[in-house]
Parts: sequence; structure tokens; C-alpha cells
Amino acid sequence: MLILGIETSCDETGVAILEESADGAPRLLAHRLHSQVEMHRDYGGVVPELASRDHIRRLLPLIDETLEAGGRRLAQVDTIAVTRGPGLAGALLVGAAVAHGLGFALGRPVVGVHHLEGHLLSPLLATPAPPFPFLALLASGGHTQLLHVEAAGAYTLLGETLDDAAGEAFDKAGQLLGVGYPGGPAVSRLADFGTPGAFRFPRPLIGGDSLDFSFSGLKTAVLTAVRAATNLCEQVRADIALAFVDAVVDVLATKAMRALDRSGTRRLVVAGGVSANKQLRTRLAADISKRRGELFFPPLELCTDNGAMIALAGWSQLRRGEAPEPGPAGFSVRPRWPLSAGRDSPRASETEKS
Ligand code: KG4
Ligand code: ZN
Repeated sequence: MLILGIETSCDETGVAILEESADGAPRLLAHRLHSQVEMHRDYGGVVPELASRDHIRRLLPLIDETLEAGGRRLAQVDTIAVTRGPGLAGALLVGAAVAHGLGFALGRPVVGVHHLEGHLLSPLLATPAPPFPFLALLASGGHTQLLHVEAAGAYTLLGETLDDAAGEAFDKAGQLLGVGYPGGPAVSRLADFGTPGAFRFPRPLIGGDSLDFSFSGLKTAVLTAVRAATNLCEQVRADIALAFVDAVVDVLATKAMRALDRSGTRRLVVAGGVSANKQLRTRLAADISKRRGELFFPPLELCTDNGAMIALAGWSQLRRGEAPEPGPAGFSVRPRWPLSAGRDSPRASETEKS
């Protein structure tokens, strides 16, 4: 079985081809990514209309390139997996329209994938892959959640952010510190030169037994420190960056360990863009080793958005017998879509764009 995966939910056009090997395991043959980061940089964040237009320009050539890299032809594709949501409506529609157009032309089914399920399962593409069940910390630009993952498709939400996502906090801190967009990798690098203890920022909701997160206050703490600095030289910016990273990492790790201690499993999977963060990886490795637990991440290049995780989640859906989407006339995208409420039960307040 050959699966073509397509991801266009935000500012990365991602394509992958994944094959089920003879032993029944998924094997990534090739994946390609076109990042729009440069295009959005001048605006300090993603401009939805520009994102949609760029996906239109890039997607078909990227599919050709990926097939060529994997040594396969379009006609060999058995199923097309595409991100159905959550994400930017226009950007999602580009991927969905191309997927359904190809599916119609080739006479192949299309599987609509939840973007967060893609992130959640992406560590299965690492070696070794985590066995089920596991506890998952999912931290990206749009979401920060703790989930109990009993098996592929069985997700229970344990806690989530009440305001900003961890990645969003990194991006906002990056803007305030003048390191540009996206803030995550740049703030992390700047923090390397920070003086420990020069600043200390609050750890919102860290006490008690809550598994929810709140990061919006940290942005205010960074803003206040930046404004109060008489000389915002490189060293002071690095000191602020370090205090910020320390606070985010401390909160994420403390809650992940709290959830782990309660869950009855010692296996932690970390996914989403922020799982690429090296300070977080170091801290979690130390915390997990104290518990004699196991820690899993996606391969570094698959931490942020990509087509490989969408192909994998599509494969997983097919294997657990979930039906493909209706044909081109009936497809829809879900810009807002909770992961743990099931495929077809969006909350009443959520809109669906067809
Ligand atoms: O998962 P992702 O690619 O997109 C969403 O689904 O949101 O995550 C992107 C987010 C951005 O906010 C980015 O700043 C953050 O992940 N990020 C990082 C790092 N690399 C990406 N945050 C901290 N440290 C990093 N190394
Ligand atoms: Zn993502």
C-alpha cells in the first residue's frame, strides 16, 4: 500500500510518500517540504491569504519532486491522506482540493487527517518507535496539550493551554526580543548565551494538581523586562531569553511528569514544533531518567509540520478501518477541530468550511 501525504494547514507545504512494508510496518520513502517562513517574516507572523496562494503555487511541483525522490509514479499511489484540520481555512482548502482532485482523477480514496494526530503519531517514524500506550505532550504553535494515548485513534485529553500555546509564546517572545519569526529556534539559540538567574519569570499554574497550561502572562513578563531595560544589549536580550525558556520548559516538564506519575505508564512521547527545543529535550531526559521511564521524540526534521506525519496518520486510520471521505462533491475542511472528541463530533461552537 502506497500513501501520498499532503499537509497545507499553515505555513509549510509538506508532501510525503509512505509504504506499508511486507511486515506490515509503515516505511517513509520520501518527504519534501517548502517552508513559507521567509515570505511571512516581514509581517512577524503567518498571513493567511499569502499562505493559501503559496500552497497553490508549490503543492503540485512538490508532489512530483517527492514521487521522484521516492522512485514512485502517481499512478502507483493507493490512497491520498490530507490534513483536514485544524488550521487556516484557505490553506486547508488548497490541500483538500488537490487531494480530492487527484483522488477523483486516479480513482483512489482520500483520507482526511487530523493535524494533531499527525504530530502525535510522528514519533512512530523514529527508531525505536514508542509502543502503546503512552502519555503525550503535544506542544506546537497552535496547541499545547497532554494526552493519554491508549492506542492509535484512542486519545484522552488530560490538560491543555487556557490561552497561548507554547510555540506561540516562543514566537511572541521572539518578536519582543527582535529575533524575528518564527521565534522558537532563535529564542532557544539566544538563551544559550544568557546568564542564569539574571531574570526570573513566573511559572503560571505550576502548583496544585492542574494539568492545564497558561503562557500569556509570560509574554507580558518578557515585555515588561524589555521595556524596563535601560540598555537592551545582546547580553540582556540573551538573559531575558534564558529566563523565558527556563519558565516554559519548567512548566511543560513539571506538568508532563505530573501527568506521567498519575497515568500508570512511564512512557512519554513529545511531539509538535516545540519538541525540537533542545532545552526541553535536556530537561525531560533528566526528569525521565530519575523515574526510569522512556522518552520518545519524532525525528528532528519531523517535529514541525510535514507531510510524512499526515501520510502516517492516514495509514493508521486505514489500518484501523476508518472510512475514507466522500468524493470531491462532499469533502470539507475543519479549521477548528478538537482531537479527543472523535472524528465527527465538532463542538457546537465550531464552524465547518466546505
Ligand atoms: O508543529 P508546528 O510546526 O506548527 C503548528 O502545528 O503550530 O509548530 C511550530 C511552532 C512555532 O511556534 C515555533 O516557534 C515552534 O514550533 N518551534 C520551536 C522550536 N522549533 C519550532 N519552539 C522552541 N524551540 C524550537 N527549537
Ligand atoms: Zn503542526
